Amino acid sequence: MTIPGSTLITQIGELVTNDGGGFTAMTDAALVIEDGVVAWTGPAARAPAADSVVDADGRAVLPGFVDSHAHLVFAGERSAEFAARMAGRPYQAGGILTTVAATRAASDTALRANLRRLAAEMLRQGTTTFECKSGYGLTVADEARGLALAAEVTPEVTYLGAHVVPPEFTGDVAGYVDLVRGPMLDACAPHARWIDVFCEDGAFGADEAAAILAAGRARGLGTRIHANQLGPGPGIRVAAEAGAASADHCTYLTDADLDTIVSAPLVATLLPGAEFGTRHPYPDGRRLLDAGATVALATDCNPGSSFTSSMSFCIALAVRDMRMTTQEALWAATAGGARALRRTDVGHLGPGARADLILLDAPSHAYLAYRPGVPQIAAVWQSGHLSAGSAS
Ligand code: NIG
Ligand code: FE
Repeated sequence: MTIPGSTLITQIGELVTNDGGGFTAMTDAALVIEDGVVAWTGPAARAPAADSVVDADGRAVLPGFVDSHAHLVFAGERSAEFAARMAGRPYQAGGILTTVAATRAASDTALRANLRRLAAEMLRQGTTTFECKSGYGLTVADEARGLALAAEVTPEVTYLGAHVVPPEFTGDVAGYVDLVRGPMLDACAPHARWIDVFCEDGAFGADEAAAILAAGRARGLGTRIHANQLGPGPGIRVAAEAGAASADHCTYLTDADLDTIVSAPLVATLLPGAEFGTRHPYPDGRRLLDAGATVALATDCNPGSSFTSSMSFCIALAVRDMRMTTQEALWAATAGGARALRRTDVGHLGPGARADLILLDAPSHAYLAYRPGVPQIAAVWQSGHLSAGSAS
Protein backbone atom coordinates (compact mmCIF):
# COMPACT_ATOMS: atom_id res chain seq x y z
CA MET A 1 0.00 0.00 0.00
CA THR A 2 1.27 3.48 -0.88
CA ILE A 3 0.87 6.22 1.71
CA PRO A 4 -0.46 9.39 -0.07
CA GLY A 5 2.02 12.28 -0.07
CA SER A 6 4.77 10.07 1.26
CA THR A 7 8.45 10.15 0.27
CA LEU A 8 10.75 7.14 0.32
CA ILE A 9 14.50 7.68 0.60
CA THR A 10 16.14 4.41 -0.30
CA GLN A 11 19.55 2.86 -1.02
CA ILE A 12 20.93 4.67 2.04
CA GLY A 13 24.50 3.49 2.71
CA GLU A 14 24.32 4.45 6.38
CA LEU A 15 21.16 5.71 8.09
CA VAL A 16 21.86 7.27 11.48
CA THR A 17 18.64 7.18 13.50
CA ASN A 18 19.84 7.66 17.10
CA ASP A 19 16.63 5.91 18.12
CA GLY A 20 18.30 3.45 20.46
CA GLY A 21 19.36 5.88 23.20
CA GLY A 22 22.91 6.49 21.98
CA PHE A 23 24.31 6.60 18.45
CA THR A 24 22.32 4.13 16.35
CA ALA A 25 22.77 3.41 12.65
CA MET A 26 21.90 0.82 10.02
CA THR A 27 23.38 0.07 6.62
CA ASP A 28 21.52 -0.58 3.33
CA ALA A 29 18.56 1.24 4.77
CA ALA A 30 15.48 3.21 3.75
CA LEU A 31 13.28 5.82 5.40
CA VAL A 32 9.72 6.96 4.69
CA ILE A 33 8.49 10.50 5.38
CA GLU A 34 4.80 11.20 5.79
CA ASP A 35 3.11 14.41 6.96
CA GLY A 36 6.47 15.94 7.86
CA VAL A 37 7.55 13.16 10.21
CA VAL A 38 9.48 9.91 9.93
CA ALA A 39 6.90 7.18 9.32
CA TRP A 40 9.16 4.16 8.82
CA THR A 41 12.82 3.12 8.83
CA GLY A 42 14.29 -0.27 7.99
CA PRO A 43 16.20 -2.36 5.46
CA ALA A 44 15.97 -1.00 1.90
CA ALA A 45 14.93 -4.45 0.70
CA ARG A 46 11.75 -4.26 2.80
CA ALA A 47 10.83 -0.61 2.15
CA PRO A 48 7.15 0.12 1.51
CA ALA A 49 6.06 1.95 -1.65
CA ALA A 50 5.67 5.73 -1.55
CA ASP A 51 4.41 8.55 -3.78
CA SER A 52 7.90 9.78 -4.54
CA VAL A 53 11.27 8.11 -4.30
CA VAL A 54 14.75 9.53 -3.64
CA ASP A 55 17.69 7.25 -4.48
CA ALA A 56 20.49 7.97 -1.98
CA ASP A 57 22.82 5.84 -4.09
CA GLY A 58 24.82 4.51 -1.14
CA ARG A 59 25.20 7.89 0.58
CA ALA A 60 24.55 8.48 4.30
CA VAL A 61 21.43 10.05 5.82
CA LEU A 62 21.72 11.73 9.23
CA PRO A 63 19.41 13.65 11.54
CA GLY A 64 19.66 17.39 10.91
CA PHE A 65 22.15 19.08 13.23
CA VAL A 66 20.79 20.71 16.39
CA ASP A 67 22.93 23.76 17.18
CA SER A 68 21.91 24.54 20.75
CA HIS A 69 24.13 27.61 21.30
CA ALA A 70 24.47 30.58 18.93
CA HIS A 71 24.57 34.38 19.17
CA LEU A 72 23.22 35.52 15.81
CA VAL A 73 21.64 38.92 16.55
CA PHE A 74 24.47 41.38 16.06
CA ALA A 75 25.97 43.93 13.71
CA GLY A 76 29.59 44.49 12.73
CA GLU A 77 32.52 42.11 12.80
CA ARG A 78 35.78 41.65 14.75
CA SER A 79 38.22 40.11 12.30
CA ALA A 80 41.01 42.45 13.45
CA GLU A 81 40.54 41.22 17.03
CA PHE A 82 40.75 37.62 15.78
CA ALA A 83 43.92 38.36 13.82
CA ALA A 84 45.48 40.00 16.89
CA ARG A 85 44.65 36.93 18.99
CA MET A 86 46.26 34.66 16.46
CA ALA A 87 49.32 36.91 16.76
CA GLY A 88 49.40 36.34 20.52
CA ARG A 89 46.96 38.73 22.21
CA PRO A 90 44.65 36.97 24.76
CA TYR A 91 40.86 36.81 24.42
CA GLN A 92 38.99 39.10 26.82
CA ALA A 93 35.27 39.15 27.54
CA GLY A 94 35.41 42.94 27.04
CA GLY A 95 35.54 42.52 23.24
CA ILE A 96 31.81 41.86 23.47
CA LEU A 97 31.28 45.61 23.99
CA THR A 98 32.59 46.36 20.49
CA THR A 99 29.71 44.32 19.10
CA VAL A 100 27.26 45.89 21.57
CA ALA A 101 28.07 49.35 20.20
CA ALA A 102 27.63 48.21 16.58
CA THR A 103 24.41 46.37 17.38
CA ARG A 104 22.81 49.31 19.19
CA ALA A 105 23.63 51.54 16.22
CA ALA A 106 22.16 49.14 13.63
CA SER A 107 18.69 49.41 12.12
CA ASP A 108 16.16 46.59 12.52
CA THR A 109 16.53 45.97 8.79
CA ALA A 110 20.29 45.52 9.03
CA LEU A 111 20.05 43.24 12.08
CA ARG A 112 17.33 41.14 10.46
CA ALA A 113 19.32 40.79 7.24
CA ASN A 114 22.45 39.63 9.09
CA LEU A 115 20.43 37.19 11.20
CA ARG A 116 18.67 35.71 8.18
CA ARG A 117 21.92 35.39 6.26
CA LEU A 118 23.42 33.38 9.13
CA ALA A 119 20.28 31.26 9.53
CA ALA A 120 20.37 30.41 5.81
CA GLU A 121 24.09 29.64 6.05
CA MET A 122 23.35 27.22 8.89
CA LEU A 123 20.58 25.48 6.98
CA ARG A 124 22.79 24.92 3.92
CA GLN A 125 25.29 23.26 6.26
CA GLY A 126 22.72 20.85 7.68
CA THR A 127 21.51 22.66 10.80
CA THR A 128 17.76 22.20 11.01
CA THR A 129 17.23 23.44 14.60
CA PHE A 130 19.17 26.25 16.24
CA GLU A 131 19.07 28.30 19.38
CA CYS A 132 19.61 32.07 19.19
CA LYS A 133 20.57 34.38 22.03
CA SER A 134 20.29 38.12 22.55
CA GLY A 135 23.13 39.73 24.49
CA TYR A 136 24.53 42.43 22.23
CA GLY A 137 21.84 45.01 23.03
CA LEU A 138 22.04 45.33 26.83
CA THR A 139 19.32 47.98 27.07
CA VAL A 140 15.66 47.10 27.61
CA ALA A 141 14.72 48.16 24.09
CA ASP A 142 17.74 46.61 22.36
CA GLU A 143 17.43 43.26 24.13
CA ALA A 144 13.70 43.09 23.43
CA ARG A 145 14.19 43.90 19.74
CA GLY A 146 16.96 41.30 19.44
CA LEU A 147 14.70 38.63 20.89
CA ALA A 148 11.75 39.62 18.72
CA LEU A 149 14.01 39.29 15.66
CA ALA A 150 15.34 35.92 16.85
CA ALA A 151 11.77 34.67 17.33
CA GLU A 152 11.18 35.29 13.61
CA VAL A 153 13.66 32.54 12.74
CA THR A 154 13.59 30.00 15.62
CA PRO A 155 11.45 28.95 18.58
CA GLU A 156 14.62 28.41 20.66
CA VAL A 157 15.12 32.01 21.76
CA THR A 158 17.35 32.85 24.74
CA TYR A 159 17.44 36.07 26.74
CA LEU A 160 21.10 36.91 27.53
CA GLY A 161 20.80 40.40 29.00
CA ALA A 162 23.49 39.19 31.43
CA HIS A 163 26.22 38.90 28.79
CA VAL A 164 28.48 41.65 30.20
CA VAL A 165 27.88 44.85 32.17
CA PRO A 166 27.39 47.67 29.62
CA PRO A 167 29.48 50.86 29.85
CA GLU A 168 26.68 53.01 31.27
CA PHE A 169 26.63 50.72 34.35
CA THR A 170 30.41 50.65 34.94
CA GLY A 171 30.89 50.60 38.72
CA ASP A 172 27.24 49.66 39.30
CA VAL A 173 27.00 45.94 38.63
CA ALA A 174 24.18 45.61 41.18
CA GLY A 175 22.19 48.26 39.33
CA TYR A 176 22.58 46.40 36.04
CA VAL A 177 21.64 43.05 37.64
CA ASP A 178 18.46 44.70 38.97
CA LEU A 179 17.64 45.92 35.47
CA VAL A 180 18.29 42.49 33.93
CA ARG A 181 16.09 40.65 36.41
CA GLY A 182 13.49 43.44 36.58
CA PRO A 183 12.26 45.70 33.76
CA MET A 184 14.47 44.09 31.10
CA LEU A 185 13.14 40.63 31.99
CA ASP A 186 9.58 41.98 31.86
CA ALA A 187 10.17 43.23 28.31
CA CYS A 188 12.08 40.15 27.16
CA ALA A 189 10.33 37.17 28.73
CA PRO A 190 7.37 37.25 26.28
CA HIS A 191 9.78 36.71 23.36
CA ALA A 192 11.98 34.01 24.92
CA ARG A 193 11.95 30.36 25.95
CA TRP A 194 15.26 30.44 27.84
CA ILE A 195 17.41 32.69 30.04
CA ASP A 196 21.22 32.52 30.06
CA VAL A 197 24.02 34.23 32.03
CA PHE A 198 27.73 34.58 31.21
CA CYS A 199 29.16 33.48 34.58
CA GLU A 200 32.85 34.30 34.38
CA ASP A 201 35.48 36.71 35.71
CA GLY A 202 34.86 39.96 33.82
CA ALA A 203 31.16 39.17 33.40
CA PHE A 204 28.84 37.97 36.24
CA GLY A 205 29.68 36.21 39.52
CA ALA A 206 27.89 33.31 41.21
CA ASP A 207 25.40 35.32 43.30
CA GLU A 208 24.51 37.60 40.40
CA ALA A 209 24.08 34.69 37.99
CA ALA A 210 21.93 32.77 40.50
CA ALA A 211 19.69 35.78 41.10
CA ILE A 212 19.19 36.38 37.37
CA LEU A 213 18.45 32.73 36.59
CA ALA A 214 16.01 32.53 39.53
CA ALA A 215 14.14 35.58 38.24
CA GLY A 216 13.92 34.07 34.75
CA ARG A 217 12.74 30.78 36.13
CA ALA A 218 10.02 32.54 38.13
CA ARG A 219 8.82 34.00 34.80
CA GLY A 220 8.58 30.53 33.26
CA LEU A 221 11.85 30.58 31.31
CA GLY A 222 14.12 27.55 31.15
CA THR A 223 17.67 28.16 32.37
CA ARG A 224 21.10 27.65 30.79
CA ILE A 225 24.51 29.14 31.48
CA HIS A 226 27.90 30.06 30.01
CA ALA A 227 30.22 28.42 32.55
CA ASN A 228 33.93 27.74 33.01
CA GLN A 229 34.90 29.06 29.56
CA LEU A 230 37.97 31.12 30.35
CA GLY A 231 38.96 29.58 33.69
CA PRO A 232 37.64 27.54 36.62
CA GLY A 233 34.65 29.06 38.41
CA PRO A 234 31.32 28.56 40.12
CA GLY A 235 29.17 28.32 36.97
CA ILE A 236 28.54 24.58 37.06
CA ARG A 237 27.30 24.70 40.66
CA VAL A 238 25.10 27.70 39.86
CA ALA A 239 23.65 25.85 36.85
CA ALA A 240 22.84 22.76 38.91
CA GLU A 241 21.18 24.83 41.64
CA ALA A 242 19.11 26.65 39.01
CA GLY A 243 17.90 23.39 37.45
CA ALA A 244 19.55 24.40 34.16
CA ALA A 245 19.10 22.27 31.06
CA SER A 246 22.69 22.78 30.01
CA ALA A 247 26.05 24.17 31.12
CA ASP A 248 27.87 25.52 28.09
CA HIS A 249 31.62 25.71 27.38
CA CYS A 250 32.83 23.47 30.29
CA THR A 251 36.43 24.10 29.26
CA TYR A 252 37.92 24.27 32.76
CA LEU A 253 36.29 21.62 34.98
CA THR A 254 37.35 20.35 38.40
CA ASP A 255 36.48 16.80 39.48
CA ALA A 256 33.74 18.30 41.65
CA ASP A 257 32.29 20.08 38.58
CA LEU A 258 32.30 16.77 36.74
CA ASP A 259 30.40 15.08 39.58
CA THR A 260 27.88 17.92 39.58
CA ILE A 261 27.30 17.68 35.82
CA VAL A 262 26.63 13.95 36.08
CA SER A 263 24.47 14.01 39.20
CA ALA A 264 22.39 17.16 38.49
CA PRO A 265 22.19 16.10 35.62
CA LEU A 266 23.29 18.89 33.29
CA VAL A 267 23.96 18.47 29.59
CA ALA A 268 27.57 19.60 29.02
CA THR A 269 27.50 21.63 25.81
CA LEU A 270 30.97 21.88 24.30
CA LEU A 271 31.77 24.72 21.89
CA PRO A 272 35.13 23.96 20.30
CA GLY A 273 34.82 26.81 17.82
CA ALA A 274 35.45 29.12 20.80
CA GLU A 275 38.66 27.33 21.75
CA PHE A 276 39.74 27.40 18.11
CA GLY A 277 39.11 31.15 17.99
CA THR A 278 40.65 32.03 21.36
CA ARG A 279 43.52 29.52 21.54
CA HIS A 280 42.25 28.18 24.85
CA PRO A 281 42.64 24.40 25.32
CA TYR A 282 39.77 22.30 23.96
CA PRO A 283 37.32 20.91 26.53
CA ASP A 284 37.94 17.25 27.35
CA GLY A 285 35.00 15.45 25.79
CA ARG A 286 36.41 12.04 26.67
CA ARG A 287 36.65 12.85 30.37
CA LEU A 288 33.00 13.97 30.43
CA LEU A 289 31.78 10.94 28.48
CA ASP A 290 33.77 8.50 30.60
CA ALA A 291 32.22 10.04 33.72
CA GLY A 292 28.77 9.38 32.27
CA ALA A 293 27.85 12.93 31.23
CA THR A 294 25.51 13.76 28.36
CA VAL A 295 27.52 15.85 25.89
CA ALA A 296 26.22 18.24 23.23
CA LEU A 297 28.25 20.01 20.54
CA ALA A 298 27.30 23.47 19.27
CA THR A 299 28.93 26.28 17.29
CA ASP A 300 28.64 29.28 19.67
CA CYS A 301 28.42 31.23 16.41
CA ASN A 302 29.22 34.87 17.31
CA PRO A 303 31.44 37.59 15.85
CA GLY A 304 33.99 37.47 18.69
CA SER A 305 35.12 34.10 20.01
CA SER A 306 33.72 31.71 17.38
CA PHE A 307 32.57 33.02 14.03
CA THR A 308 31.66 29.65 12.56
CA SER A 309 28.18 28.33 11.77
CA SER A 310 29.54 24.91 10.79
CA MET A 311 28.51 21.93 12.91
CA SER A 312 30.69 19.76 10.66
CA PHE A 313 33.72 21.80 11.73
CA CYS A 314 32.81 21.33 15.40
CA ILE A 315 32.44 17.58 14.88
CA ALA A 316 35.87 17.42 13.25
CA LEU A 317 37.44 19.31 16.18
CA ALA A 318 35.69 17.06 18.72
CA VAL A 319 37.00 13.94 17.01
CA ARG A 320 40.50 15.23 16.38
CA ASP A 321 41.14 17.21 19.55
CA MET A 322 38.58 16.29 22.21
CA ARG A 323 39.03 12.53 22.11
CA MET A 324 35.46 11.83 21.02
CA THR A 325 34.69 9.03 18.58
CA THR A 326 33.00 9.90 15.30
CA GLN A 327 29.82 8.28 16.64
CA GLU A 328 29.93 10.26 19.90
CA ALA A 329 30.54 13.53 18.06
CA LEU A 330 27.70 12.97 15.59
CA TRP A 331 25.35 12.05 18.45
CA ALA A 332 26.40 15.14 20.42
CA ALA A 333 25.72 17.39 17.39
CA THR A 334 22.22 15.97 16.89
CA ALA A 335 20.61 14.13 19.84
CA GLY A 336 22.89 15.89 22.34
CA GLY A 337 21.78 19.31 21.11
CA ALA A 338 18.16 18.18 21.35
CA ARG A 339 18.73 17.14 24.99
CA ALA A 340 20.32 20.52 25.71
CA LEU A 341 17.14 22.16 24.40
CA ARG A 342 14.87 19.59 26.08
CA ARG A 343 13.44 18.61 22.71
CA THR A 344 12.31 15.07 21.91
CA ASP A 345 11.09 15.68 18.34
CA VAL A 346 14.49 16.44 16.78
CA GLY A 347 18.03 15.02 16.88
CA HIS A 348 16.91 11.51 15.94
CA LEU A 349 15.08 9.78 13.09
CA GLY A 350 12.94 7.30 14.95
CA PRO A 351 9.32 6.88 13.84
CA GLY A 352 7.39 10.04 14.80
CA ALA A 353 10.47 12.30 14.77
CA ARG A 354 10.33 15.49 12.75
CA ALA A 355 11.63 14.66 9.27
CA ASP A 356 14.67 16.95 9.58
CA LEU A 357 17.47 15.20 7.79
CA ILE A 358 20.71 15.51 5.92
CA LEU A 359 21.76 13.63 2.80
CA LEU A 360 25.54 13.47 3.03
CA ASP A 361 27.67 13.36 -0.09
CA ALA A 362 29.62 10.48 1.48
CA PRO A 363 28.94 6.90 2.59
CA SER A 364 29.18 7.42 6.34
CA HIS A 365 29.00 10.05 9.09
CA ALA A 366 32.73 9.54 9.75
CA TYR A 367 33.49 11.58 6.63
CA LEU A 368 32.47 14.74 8.51
CA ALA A 369 35.72 14.45 10.49
CA TYR A 370 37.66 12.44 7.93
CA ARG A 371 37.30 15.19 5.28
CA PRO A 372 37.38 18.38 7.38
CA GLY A 373 36.49 21.61 5.66
CA VAL A 374 35.00 19.90 2.62
CA PRO A 375 31.35 20.76 1.79
CA GLN A 376 29.57 17.41 1.98
CA ILE A 377 25.95 18.35 2.73
CA ALA A 378 24.14 17.36 -0.49
CA ALA A 379 20.56 18.06 0.64
CA VAL A 380 18.62 19.08 3.75
CA TRP A 381 14.96 18.39 4.58
CA GLN A 382 13.01 20.23 7.26
CA SER A 383 9.71 18.69 8.37
CA GLY A 384 9.84 16.57 5.22
CA HIS A 385 10.40 19.48 2.82
CA LEU A 386 13.58 19.70 0.79
CA SER A 387 14.88 23.07 2.00
CA ALA A 388 18.49 23.17 0.78
CA GLY A 389 20.60 21.42 -1.81
CA SER A 390 19.50 18.76 -4.24
CA ALA A 391 18.70 15.10 -3.73
CA SER A 392 19.64 13.98 -7.24
O1 NIG B 1 30.06 32.29 24.13
N1 NIG B 1 31.15 33.81 26.41
C1 NIG B 1 30.44 34.74 26.11
N2 NIG B 1 29.93 35.00 24.93
C2 NIG B 1 30.45 34.54 23.71
C3 NIG B 1 31.49 35.43 23.20
C4 NIG B 1 30.89 36.59 22.59
C5 NIG B 1 31.87 37.55 21.98
O2 NIG B 1 33.11 37.45 22.13
O3 NIG B 1 31.30 38.44 21.33
C6 NIG B 1 30.91 33.11 23.81
O4 NIG B 1 32.07 32.77 23.55
FE1 FE C 1 28.22 31.73 23.81
